[in-house]
Amino acid sequence: MSETFYITTSIYYSNNYLHIGNAYEAVIADAVARYKRLRGYDVRFMTGMDEHGQKIEQSATNLERTPQEHVDYIAEWTKGVMRNLNIDYDVFFRTTSDAHHAAVKKIFNRLYEIGDIYKDAYEGLYCTPCETFYTPPQIKDGACPVCEKQVQNISEEAYFFKLSKYQDALIAHIENNPEFITPAWRANEMLNSFLRPGLEDLCVSRTSFKWGIPVEFDPNHVVYVWVDALSNYITALGYESDNKDLYKKYWPADVHIVGKDIMRFHTIIWPAILMALGEPLPKQVYGHGWLNFDGKKIGKSLGNSIDPNELVEAYGTDAIRYYLLREMPFGQDGNYTTENLIARINADLANDIGNLLSRTVGMIDKYFGGKLPTEQSQTDAGIEFGVLATTSVKIAESHFDKMEFDQGLAEIWRIIDRANKYIDHMEPWKLAKEEDKQSILAGCLYILTESLRIIAILIEPSMPSVPSKIFSQLNLDNSEHKTWDAANQFGLSPKEITITKGEVIFPRIDVKK
Ligand code: MSP
Repeated sequence: MSETFYITTSIYYSNNYLHIGNAYEAVIADAVARYKRLRGYDVRFMTGMDEHGQKIEQSATNLERTPQEHVDYIAEWTKGVMRNLNIDYDVFFRTTSDAHHAAVKKIFNRLYEIGDIYKDAYEGLYCTPCETFYTPPQIKDGACPVCEKQVQNISEEAYFFKLSKYQDALIAHIENNPEFITPAWRANEMLNSFLRPGLEDLCVSRTSFKWGIPVEFDPNHVVYVWVDALSNYITALGYESDNKDLYKKYWPADVHIVGKDIMRFHTIIWPAILMALGEPLPKQVYGHGWLNFDGKKIGKSLGNSIDPNELVEAYGTDAIRYYLLREMPFGQDGNYTTENLIARINADLANDIGNLLSRTVGMIDKYFGGKLPTEQSQTDAGIEFGVLATTSVKIAESHFDKMEFDQGLAEIWRIIDRANKYIDHMEPWKLAKEEDKQSILAGCLYILTESLRIIAILIEPSMPSVPSKIFSQLNLDNSEHKTWDAANQFGLSPKEITITKGEVIFPRIDVKK
C-alpha cells in the first residue's frame, strides 16, 4: 500500500473573489500534490471555502442576497478559477456543509465538557474584514495591522478557549519538531512574537451576528469563525461523523499550505485545539510569503486585487502557474509586475523551452525527413550532457521534496540552457552537410529528444498540460518512459524517434500589443 500524503491549502473567505495572491497558494499546493502523486503517494489534496462570519453576512445584505446564496455564488466562482488554473483537488470543502456544522458542534461541546472552554465577558479590538481580535499594541491609528481597516471596540458575553494552558506544550512541540514550521525562520517569529511573551485565552464565540455555527448548548452564540474554519481540516475527513475511515487514513495532515499572515492561527490556535481534543498535530505548516503589487499585499481590502481569470485568459494557465512558482522565492514575498510576467514568458517559455522543442523537431524533420536513424554515435559533449542532466534531475528533485519550486524550476532551466548551448556547440547545420557525420548528427538530435523527455516529466507538477504537447511532437507513447523514475534514466527512449511537427507551445507575447 502506498504511503499517504494529506495536503491542504487554507480555506478561502467567501466575502472575496479569489485574487491572484490567494491563487498562488492553490497553485503551489497543487504543484506539491501533483509532484507527490508522481512520486507514488496516495495523495489527498483539500481546498475549499470559509463561509461564515459577520463580514460575509454584511456583504450578502449589501448585495440583497441571503448569506447562503452569496456563499454558493462565491464557491462556484472560486471553483471556476481553480478549473482555469488546472487545480486538481480531491475535495472542495465548504464550511456551510451539514457535515461540517454537525462536527463543529460536537468539537465545541467536547472542549466545553473537558473544561477547556468556559464562559466570560469579552471586551476588545476586533477587525471585521479579518475576523480577528487584536491587542492595543498591535493597533496603530485605530487600524488593523493586516488590512488597514478601522478596528472596533466590542464588548459581549462570550465563551473562551484555554489557549494559555497549552503555551508550554506548544513551545516544546515547536522546539522539538524543527520541521513543524516551514520555513524554519518562521518558527522564531511565532516563538518570539506570541508564545514566549505569553498566550491569553481566546474568545471563541460571538453573539452580535447570526451567520455562523450555533453553539449547541447556548444557541445565542455562534462559534468563532477561526475555530469553525480550522476544524475543516479534520471535519473534511469525517472527524466526529459516523464514518472515520478517511480520518484514520489521512490524519495527521502532512502539510497545511497557508500565508504568513495566518501562521499564528495554524501553528498556535489549531495545534492547541488538537492537543485539547487529544488528536495528533499536523506534521507541517508551510507559511508562504505574499504576492505583492507595488510593495503591498495583493488583496481585496486594499483594492489592488488581480483577477486570475483575466491573467489566464491573456497568457494561458501554464504560463501563469510557471510565473507564480518561479517568481515567488520559497517562503518569502514576491512582487507581481506585468513586465516581469511577460519577460518570463518570452525568455523562459517562448525562447528557452519553446525554441528547444521547435529547433529539435525542426532539425529532425529537415535533416532526416522526420525520422532519426538508429545509427547514432556520441561525442564527449553528448555524454557529458547526459551526466549533467541526471545530476540536475536529482537536484531539482531535492528542491521539490522541500516544496522549493522556484529553485527546482531554476535547476530544470539549467538543463534547458545547457541543451540550447549544446546545439550551438555541436553546430548540427554544419554536421548535416558532411556525409560521414550523419551518425554524430543523429546522436546529437537524440540527446536533444532525451533532454526534452526529461524536462517534460520534471515540469509536469508546475505546468500540467505542457508535457503531453512535448511527448506528442516526439511521439513518445510508452508510459513507462514518462514516470518520475524514468527522468533519472538518460537514454531510456528507443533510438528510433519519429517526430510530428506541432504548434508552438509558448507563443511570444508582443509587448507593443
Ligand atoms: N479564511 C481564512 C483562512 C482559514 S484557514 C482555516 C483566510 N482566507 S483568505 O481568503 O483571506 O486567504 C486565503 C489564503 O490566501 C491565506 O493563506 C492568505 O495568506 C493567502 N493570501 C491572501 N493574500 C495573499 C497574497 N497577496 N499573496 C499570497 N497569499 C495571499 O485567511
